[in-house]
Amino acid sequence: MCGIVGYLGAREAAPLIVEGLRRLEYRGYDSSGVAVLKDGQIQVRREVGKLSGLAQMLTQEPVAGHVGIGHTRWATHGPANDVNAHPHTDSKGDVAVVHNGIIDNAARLRARLTEDGVDLVSDTDTEVLAHLIGRSEADTLEEKVSEALAQVEGTYGLAVVHAAYPDRIVVARNGSPLIIGVGDHEMHVASDLAALVRYTTTVAHLDDGELATLTADGFTTYRHDLSTVARAATEVDVDPAAYDAGEHDSYMHKEMLEQPEAAARVLRGRLDQRFGTSHLGGLDLDARELRAIRRVKVLGCGSAYYVGEMGAALIEELARIPASAEAASEFRYRNPIVEPDTLYVAVSQSGETVDTLLAVQEIKRKGGRVVGLVNVVGSAIARECDGGIYLHAGPEVAVASTKALTNMFLGFALLALQLGRVRDLSIADGRRLVAGLQRLPDQIAEVLDREPELAELAGRLAEAQSLFFVGRVRGYPVAREGAQKFKEISYRHAEAYQTSELKHGPLALIDESVPTVSVVPDDELTERNVAALHEVAARGGPLVVVTHATVDLGDLPGQASVHRVDLPRNERELDPALMVVALQLLSYHAAKSLGHDIDKPRNLAKSVTVE
Ligand code: AGP
Repeated sequence: MCGIVGYLGAREAAPLIVEGLRRLEYRGYDSSGVAVLKDGQIQVRREVGKLSGLAQMLTQEPVAGHVGIGHTRWATHGPANDVNAHPHTDSKGDVAVVHNGIIDNAARLRARLTEDGVDLVSDTDTEVLAHLIGRSEADTLEEKVSEALAQVEGTYGLAVVHAAYPDRIVVARNGSPLIIGVGDHEMHVASDLAALVRYTTTVAHLDDGELATLTADGFTTYRHDLSTVARAATEVDVDPAAYDAGEHDSYMHKEMLEQPEAAARVLRGRLDQRFGTSHLGGLDLDARELRAIRRVKVLGCGSAYYVGEMGAALIEELARIPASAEAASEFRYRNPIVEPDTLYVAVSQSGETVDTLLAVQEIKRKGGRVVGLVNVVGSAIARECDGGIYLHAGPEVAVASTKALTNMFLGFALLALQLGRVRDLSIADGRRLVAGLQRLPDQIAEVLDREPELAELAGRLAEAQSLFFVGRVRGYPVAREGAQKFKEISYRHAEAYQTSELKHGPLALIDESVPTVSVVPDDELTERNVAALHEVAARGGPLVVVTHATVDLGDLPGQASVHRVDLPRNERELDPALMVVALQLLSYHAAKSLGHDIDKPRNLAKSVTVE
């Protein structure tokens, strides 16, 4: 969702800002804009639609200057149009503000400003900030911003320029990420590392409740009361190439193919073959505390929720602790009972998903302990949790999450192993699973090698308007994630069901036009799964069976429309990791055959930072 970029130094600001915004396009946006300061004047350009429109506008009406801020907006208050696009200015045009987050008391502040005779031109909450800063009579820009923020309730990452203070950008953070980038006699700021890494890898993260002043020679950080707080810049270990799609036609394709290395990374140094367990230092829980856990509750949104279901099943199976997953977006609205001996696990790629963050805050407010399975280091959710497991999947740009999800599953496997081994999981089973985990990266590569076969199948599935994805027990969340991925990028109606539930209703929909993708691992449920396939095939339903070569499907009626994909076998508990990868390839190729923009599916954003 919304993105912030700022620059201050010897170079022309506008091209650098637009390039930074281009790097944030993947987050999703519907308008964009820049404000550049020169000779005591703020020049603003804003455009609805693609960033290329803003770039085009800037060639026709250029803005010169060495200090500027820019924004990509995802509409929350008011429609996507150029008036609501950021930056917003005060009535005199002295102040320009870009803002991520939501000002909860914006309506009240707008009413007050209107009573005072201020003419608000947009529908946004952000404009309020520009007026509050512009009307402040404080002496310094820092004081003006601090004074304005004292009146505001809500979340923000923001950057401010002021015509009277041309040597600085003032930024502030509360619940929305902001990263300062230190260059050579120049400073950058962005809401996402992706916009910075081409210019600098020396960065400082602001904490919630902090402000900073950037000048060409450095930065100073403050608390809200403007007492200074020391915050040093550090080197981030990130390869700028990680943010390029390279020879791939999309980031999703690149990120799917990166899964073997990403999987190896999340496991590295965490497996203990000798004791058949895992080492998870970041969890910060000793054996006694792990044993005291009576229940596990996983919280995440979208695909992170579905992987959470896979994780909960693994925990229940290996550790024999009641475990369940719930959509974080629903959790806090039902006044949840938070128990002291429950371990809460928040799962998120971005670490920014606001529904998940608010669920974590609700649990902590009620005294619960939350650990995070998060990919983005230092993100809001990672900081809010009491400890956790970083996923080390590397930057994920495509809206459709792939490598981060696989690593979430592996993170859960590591957690389940440890919880199991302090209970009744035998050392032999522990070692069996450690060996299985060690095999997984190579087996993921084997699944990825099946791409041509899956591409062909996907082309046929894409012709259907409606599909079922089915599985049982540990296969059901795999089916849910498969359906999610399919609808997300192919825009086909894909519905996940427990295989066992088909006959209780949805079987009525099955005919030659409705394919079923069925997850049938070789496990204790194979026979029941196969029986259900016969019921589908008997009604003419085309089948794609994601299975193992050892599974006998019997004589299915209508063999011509049955396609099996035999995957490598791991341990039955870990097979979901491989099946998910096969379903990713199906979705990707279905979307590709339909000619969709795979990395930017319609209506969706990479990081969902609004409730
Ligand atoms: C995944 O393909 C989706 N784009 C989406 O469901 C995503 O998993 C969800 O929004 C949660 O995101 P997070 O992992 O960054 O919290």
